[in-house]
Amino acid sequence: MTQIASQGSQSLKPAAESLPSAAEGTMVGNGLGLIFRLARRQWPALAAAAAFAVLAVAFELVPYLAVYRIAVEVFSEAPRPEAMVRLAWLAFGAVVLQFVCIAVSNTVAHAAAFRLLRQVRTELTEKMARLPLGFFDRRESGDLKKALVEDVGSLEGVLAHNIPDIVSGILVPLAAGVALFWVDWRMALASLALLPVGIAAQMWAFRDMDAQYRLWHRTEAAANAGVLEYLRGIAVLKAFNRTAGSLERLRSAVYGVRDVATAMTRRSMYPYALFFIALGSNLLVVLPVGIALHLHGGLGLPQLCLFLVLGAGLTAPLIKLMFVFGSTSRTIMGAGRIQAILDAPPLPEADGPVQPADYGVRFVDVHFSYDGAKSALQQVSFTAQPGRVTALVGPSGAGKSTVARLIARFWDVDAGRVEVGGVDVRALGLEALMGHIGFVFQEVFLLHDSVRENIRLGCAGASDAEVEAAAQAANAHTFIQALPDGYDTQLGDRGARLSGGEKQRLAIARAILKNAPILLLDEATAFADPENELAIQQALAELIQGKTVIVIAHRLASVADADHIVVFNGGTVEDQGTHGELLGRSGTYRRLWAAQQQAVGWTMTTATGEEAHAG
Ligand SMILES: Nc1ncnc2c1ncn2[C@@H]1O[C@H](COP(=O)(O)OP(=O)(O)OP(=O)(O)O)[C@@H](O)[C@H]1O
Ligand SMILES: [Mg+2]
Repeated sequence: MTQIASQGSQSLKPAAESLPSAAEGTMVGNGLGLIFRLARRQWPALAAAAAFAVLAVAFELVPYLAVYRIAVEVFSEAPRPEAMVRLAWLAFGAVVLQFVCIAVSNTVAHAAAFRLLRQVRTELTEKMARLPLGFFDRRESGDLKKALVEDVGSLEGVLAHNIPDIVSGILVPLAAGVALFWVDWRMALASLALLPVGIAAQMWAFRDMDAQYRLWHRTEAAANAGVLEYLRGIAVLKAFNRTAGSLERLRSAVYGVRDVATAMTRRSMYPYALFFIALGSNLLVVLPVGIALHLHGGLGLPQLCLFLVLGAGLTAPLIKLMFVFGSTSRTIMGAGRIQAILDAPPLPEADGPVQPADYGVRFVDVHFSYDGAKSALQQVSFTAQPGRVTALVGPSGAGKSTVARLIARFWDVDAGRVEVGGVDVRALGLEALMGHIGFVFQEVFLLHDSVRENIRLGCAGASDAEVEAAAQAANAHTFIQALPDGYDTQLGDRGARLSGGEKQRLAIARAILKNAPILLLDEATAFADPENELAIQQALAELIQGKTVIVIAHRLASVADADHIVVFNGGTVEDQGTHGELLGRSGTYRRLWAAQQQAVGWTMTTATGEEAHAG
């Protein structure tokens, strides 16, 4: 349970961190900035869309004015029927034009919005290609998918709908207000009498709303994390009969969201009720004031009618405006997430790629920290000779995988340098560097594609026969043929349908196909079953011929005859040398070796442990 909990909270940290309370202000600023920048790029189209939206609302007002004119006719000395028919036709024509304007506004706004969405998606994918791989390592892949699909998608709503809505929601009440003041200023004031109450109610509802929303986002993130943790750990939890206990954690997280939401609703219930009543019922003021003015103030009946139909609806667009602002807040946060990706510092690219002298790898006084606080590597210096096998050993968390990631430039070092063939990896050019390196890492990444294409990732131009030969060499051919569609079997999300050992063998096949001069192997045999382990070792022995190999393995037996062994402990190089030398002088190495011997002894009965040991 504790193990799952700590694992869960560690891997879930980034998700929770994507909504840090301090950075939320900048998220909103960034989001608005992005929306304005995008809107500027297509401003003629968006301005046209807004203009048509305003026209549409202007036409919407025409029937009211027609009713007013008809009322004037009806109450005049000599009503003219043909004038009234003309007004009726005018009203009808205005309604038709209103719908035409809405259609034009929508079409133009959507076309502009989709052009912008395409640009944003292209920019995001281009940006992602230039980001350090570590950037993706650190983030939940769901987070990036959310930015690329959902957040970009919701921008469409703001650009295509809300901009026209906001423009017309502000301009139309203004224009109508001016028109009403021109007709009768006393009645216009009466129409707006409840507006201050509405504004006050709104301010009341929004008092310390910021803090409320932050609390809400934090609780929601915690609940999401709780759900994810529960789903990820469900197998282990079940195995330890702990579902009830963990459900309790999940339940309290979910109830936390409920409590915060209820509290927020309670707080804003009365202000909102007041807001809607104030803006929705100005008839309560318009009617008595209108009747009084009609009886004693010289207000004509037609004017009274006009205010009853138009004045009563004057504040309605403000309600709509408030809904628009409410619904955009999420989108603005999403735009902030997009901007955060666009703003992430890209991996610095070399000016002109340099050719390395050979394929040796050298660490010179390397310091590195993942988060800028806790250092993962300090003063790490060692040399992996070209064409030789260098093994990295050490207890869990010592920094071995970090070393491998730095060679492949998932991250750049904080101080010191990593060299390939005497050239700093930062000067090699990312593409060239990637061309020199093949790797099989602890985490195997598989594409949503066929097995064949997943192996072909190692070498884009490889023929089917070459792919199959690589799979044979990696001892993967047999299990691939047993899959439903053989080499054409589609792999699920992160290769969910394959076992850990099978995924690793695909990664080895990929590396075999790539045939790069530098090979990074991190726990390459960790998941393999005993029968396959030997076959994989043989495949690797074939693969590593003449290459610079940096191998990380917990099974010391498989690295005992490496040319050079580097012992890591707590992020530093504690010692280095050959197996014999290290056994003689390194306490850590002796301990690791003794633990290994015990493990071998423990598995002796399976006979394969003995074989591996003998190697
Ligand atoms: N993506 C990451 N973000 C932050 N810290 C990390 C990350 N990956 C590793 N660390 C930390 O860096 C340190 C070194 O980790 P590393 O993965 O290099 O260890 P390792 O020697 O490969 O361990 P193992 O043998 O268990 O694979 C550890 O303290 C670990 O918690
Ligand atoms: Mg590791």
